[in-house]
Formats: sequence, C-alpha cells, structure tokens
Amino acid sequence: MRRNVNEITGSRRMRRNRRFDWSRRLVQENTVTVDDLILPIFLIEGNNKREPIASMPGVERLTVDLAVQAAKEAASLGIPAIATFANIPIEKRDETGSEVLNPDGVINEATRAIKSEVPQMGIITDVALDPFTSHGHDGILRGDTIANDETVELVSKAAVVQAQAGADIIAPSEMMDGRIGAIRDALDDAGFEDVAIMSYAAKYASAFYGPYREAVSTKDLLKGDKKTYYVSPANSDEALHECQLDLEEGADMLIIKPGMPYLDIIRRVKDEFSVPTFAYQVSGEYSMIMAGVEKGFLDEDRAIMESMLAFKRAGCDGVMTYFAPKIAKLLADGWKI
Ligand code: PBG
Repeated sequence: MRRNVNEITGSRRMRRNRRFDWSRRLVQENTVTVDDLILPIFLIEGNNKREPIASMPGVERLTVDLAVQAAKEAASLGIPAIATFANIPIEKRDETGSEVLNPDGVINEATRAIKSEVPQMGIITDVALDPFTSHGHDGILRGDTIANDETVELVSKAAVVQAQAGADIIAPSEMMDGRIGAIRDALDDAGFEDVAIMSYAAKYASAFYGPYREAVSTKDLLKGDKKTYYVSPANSDEALHECQLDLEEGADMLIIKPGMPYLDIIRRVKDEFSVPTFAYQVSGEYSMIMAGVEKGFLDEDRAIMESMLAFKRAGCDGVMTYFAPKIAKLLADGWKI
C-alpha cells in the first residue's frame, strides 16, 4: 500500500518555511556579525615591511607600523579584537625562549603602538614560547621533556610583561598544567586584576597548524612533536576536563583549537560550562579554503561565511580567523546566507 506524502508526514511540510527569502530570514537560528571576529596578526621586526606567507595566500607578516595600520583598518570595519603572534630573527631564539620577557620585544612594542593609536581595539597576546625558542616547542626543553613547572614560571612572568605593555587579554596557548592559576596570581600580584585570561583550554595536537609554523618560522626548528602537552585528536572527554580545570583556575574565556574539525568539542564545552567559548579557525583551515578557492573548486565568499555559521551553530561566541577583515567587509556589504 503506497501512501501519499501527506499521509507519510502527517501533513507536516518542512519546505513551507523555506519558500521565501523573508520566511527563511524569519526562521534563521544563527547569524554572523562583526562582533564575532578576532583577527590574528603576524609581527616582524623593522619598519614598513610586509612579507607574504607562501602557505597562507593573502596573509602577511607585518612590522609594527604596518600592524598599526592593519589594526586601524580592522577597527574601522568594527572588528573588536586582534591577537598578535611574533616571528623574531633566528639569532634571538634560545633554549628557554628568553625573548618572551623582553618588554621591548615586537609583541609588546605592537601592543603599545596599537593601544596608543587605536585605543578601542582589544589586544590579545599569547605567552607560549614557540616563537622564541630555538627548538620550536611551546615550553622549556630539558633533555627531551618539556619542563612543566619551569615553563609555568616563565609564562607567568611573560603575562605580566605583556599586561604592562597594555594587553587586555592574555591567551596562553602552551598547554602546561597549572598555568592559568599561576598566570592569574602573577597578574593579580602585579595589579592587573582586570586583565582577562582567554585560555587555549583544549588545544589539539593537530596537523592543521602547518602553515602557522611557516608564518612564525618554527617549521624547520621543531624537534619531535607536541603530543606530550597538546590533547590527542582521539579525545573529547579530556578536552572537557581541561576546560573545567582552566575555569576553576580562573580562565575568563575558553578557546578550542583548531576549529572546524572540532565543532563537536565546541558544542560539548558550551553545553557543559555556558561560558564565553571561542574557536580558532587555524592556519591550515584558512589555507585549505584558500587552496580550494585558488583551484576554482570553492566559492570563496560562500565557503568562508558557511564556515563562520558552522562555528556559531556549534556554540561559539566568537572566532579567531585570518578571514576576519574579509568577513567584516562582506557583512558591511550586506551579506546574507
Ligand atoms: C603554538 C601555536 C600554534 C598556533 C598558534 N600558536 C600551534 C603550533 O605551532 O603548534 C597555531 C595557529 C594557526 O595554525 O593558525 N603556541
């Protein structure tokens, strides 16, 4: 006995709400706005120089003066915050990443310059040691181990130096145990109670960081891998455990990194903790989309905006993305899904 469609669906027709542009807009559950965006910026020393990054078409390393211009442009587009990452000369990198403590290092110089010229821009700085070590690891290498407690001491000091330069949010990405509590104490002791901590709480040992390692020139330096301190891509409960500990230690916001391959983690974290939750759409995700675009396989604007909606749908409050200026422009031009 063959039933007609109304008998099968009990007269429900999901397509009714999809018929018109106005009704699709009415039932739309998630939106992307410029307020969701954090722009990562790569910094180099010197003046008036920009360097392309081969594996990240359209992204450049900038000297501080040009980073100020980029921050101005981002602010004029309405982007709320930037996150800075350094590529320092190889001669300045050492076993312990001591350059991270240099108050006049490129990260702190950029914070001061951007704060003075674009005061409305939120500035997020990372304390991980990888751009500063001669071995490319995020922590201090002793033999073949990353020394947890010694690294925590150093990154806590770095957090204070970055706060002194004017950073609004410290985002520690080195995944050492106990770092959030230690950084909170160090900031409070130095009178920076109002500087926030955005923890890379669940940072996975991922292949998708490849292009970033070219961007900060750690690719050829890195000895071994980061499996002893980043979370295994096989695990999900462990990410929740990390988030729970970081919140208990004083994290104000959480980052899940990478983004798109870990939307399930974002959803679980948001459901479990109901705190501000961010994704980092990392370099490899950026480069994958751009490679598809360059080959003519993907529509650039639609692919980028769909990836943003995916983050929002998964529960993100915001996204760190190299596409931030592009997205802001599309939104300003009236982009609709
Ligand atoms: C390390 C760090 C990484 C990224 C930013 N800081 C990962 C790594 O090199 O292991 C990745 C960012 C990206 O891929 O866009 N502290």
